[in-house]
Amino acid sequence: MMTADNGPALTLGEGTIGYQDGSEAYLLRFFTENVVNEYELFPKDAPWAIHYHLTPRRKTLLSWLDFGQGGRILELGAGCGALTSHLVSLPHAVTAVEGSPDRAAIIRARCRTAGNLEIVAANAVGLPYDGLFDAVTLIGVLEYAGAFVDGPAPHERLLAEAGRYLKDDGCLILAIENRMGHKYLAGMPEDHTGRPYSGVNGYPGPGAARTFDRPTLSAMLARAGFPAQQWHYPSPDYKTPDSVVSERALGTPGFNALPLLELPTRDYDGNIFPAFSERQFLRSALAGGLGGHFMNSFLVLAAADGKAPMLAANRDALAVAVNADSCPPRFQTMTRFTAKDGGVVVTRKNLHGLPPARFAAGRQRLKASEPCHLGYASFLEIVLAAVEDGNWGLAAGALTDWMELAASRARPATPEGVRGFADFCRDRLGAPVYAGRETEKWLSGSLLDAHPGNVLRHPATGDVRFIDLEWQLACDIPLQLLLDRGINLVGQKVAPLARYLGLPEAGGLPPVMDRMLARHPLCRRTDFASLACVTQWLFAAVTHGTLDYRLPAPTA
Ligand SMILES: C[S@@+](CC[C@H](N)C(=O)[O-])C[C@H]1O[C@@H](n2cnc3c(N)ncnc32)[C@H](O)[C@@H]1O
Repeated sequence: MMTADNGPALTLGEGTIGYQDGSEAYLLRFFTENVVNEYELFPKDAPWAIHYHLTPRRKTLLSWLDFGQGGRILELGAGCGALTSHLVSLPHAVTAVEGSPDRAAIIRARCRTAGNLEIVAANAVGLPYDGLFDAVTLIGVLEYAGAFVDGPAPHERLLAEAGRYLKDDGCLILAIENRMGHKYLAGMPEDHTGRPYSGVNGYPGPGAARTFDRPTLSAMLARAGFPAQQWHYPSPDYKTPDSVVSERALGTPGFNALPLLELPTRDYDGNIFPAFSERQFLRSALAGGLGGHFMNSFLVLAAADGKAPMLAANRDALAVAVNADSCPPRFQTMTRFTAKDGGVVVTRKNLHGLPPARFAAGRQRLKASEPCHLGYASFLEIVLAAVEDGNWGLAAGALTDWMELAASRARPATPEGVRGFADFCRDRLGAPVYAGRETEKWLSGSLLDAHPGNVLRHPATGDVRFIDLEWQLACDIPLQLLLDRGINLVGQKVAPLARYLGLPEAGGLPPVMDRMLARHPLCRRTDFASLACVTQWLFAAVTHGTLDYRLPAPTA
């Protein structure tokens, strides 16, 4: 027994293992020296080995799940506690089992104030826990069974052991990469071997880490006593997801999962690019009902019986998107898509239940609940799909339709509106932007976020809906500001596709579209220098957690 006077109990059990990724000494020091708010910003430029353990995105894998009102959770292979730190925030008793004693010590330092946690440094198999737990997790662990679990069928044995620890109606929560994930097919290095295609082509040897494709994993789970399965797909993967989409969502008519996926997949070291456009590949796979087979990672809830409470509690969850790593907790959000009464509702909230903050310059507006507009597509999606299909006329037409729609909401400038914007520029940006626009049309500052990603159109009826107008200014804004913002956004989203489409990779709109748009009267007064200043302010304000942020004066 290695228990200290304060902090969770840490017990040394049987069969510890020597797993390490090189971050252990740093992390133990970091968590020993710092009391950490797990959702505050961490340095984004930290090396991947550290960033991976610290980014709040880790918790998005589980933070949306309904674990019920209480009970016992067993985390097998708890690593350095990134998910333990979420689990102990639940009203459950948590047992974290970690094979490496060094890592178990990190969990203890990381979760030192948790009163509902016990930590055991031991192998995940052979534990004396028959029928004790409501939920057992195997997150990023099954792939290592060949190395750390004895016996002729180590993966099956580990799953069976997890089943043995569960109550009859308990639930296994399993996360693992997909051996046939789109990033692997596109030639990105396999996460464990570091070599392209080593998983797709079969793995090196029996002791090496290995993942599975969907049918193989599903059959393996069923054989291990988990025939009832709910499949979810964390994106870009289960390690650092910012969204999770369920198989049920993929089968819901009119539900478009594509905008929720983070594409293209980024190489963690930033040097390697997918060999083909994953967006185009997934557009086709999703349309053909095959999307789940090719997602990068799986999150499976599995039980002996479909009536298991956790399966029932999460059955209607279609998708979730979390913004946890680009701003402080005050602005972090969770958007859920839930099946309800034959339709889908979208609910948005502060990730931590914090009330909306008020600022002189504007506000973050989260519409608590609205119907999901099934069958609609955002103008951004329409433009991107048209660009991918080489249909420049359609792409430019959709973008100008959006511009005209925005213009239809605009009105002549008022002296108060112009003055309010000038005050905003002086107080927040420290410089005037979009100067001399008094004779042009202006918009309410509540439409700052009405860019092409947030305006939807129904392909058959032409009906238009505005969604998610999150960032709003208290003053009026020149129409041109919104138009420039929209064009810039489309350029940013086209840029990663450029290499696959034979377009210039410098960013911005494809030259053909640029020429088409240049003829449109609403584009004639574009001012990207002014836009850059507003964009810089908004980014800094959101990152700093206050819309009353003032940009520092440029240094000479
Ligand atoms: C990739 S890490 C994932 C850690 C954690 N679940 C997470 O998501 O942050 C895998 C962890 O599982 C542990 N592990 C792998 N096989 C194990 C086994 N048979 N028994 C106990 N721990 C194991 C390793 O020591 C390592 O810390």
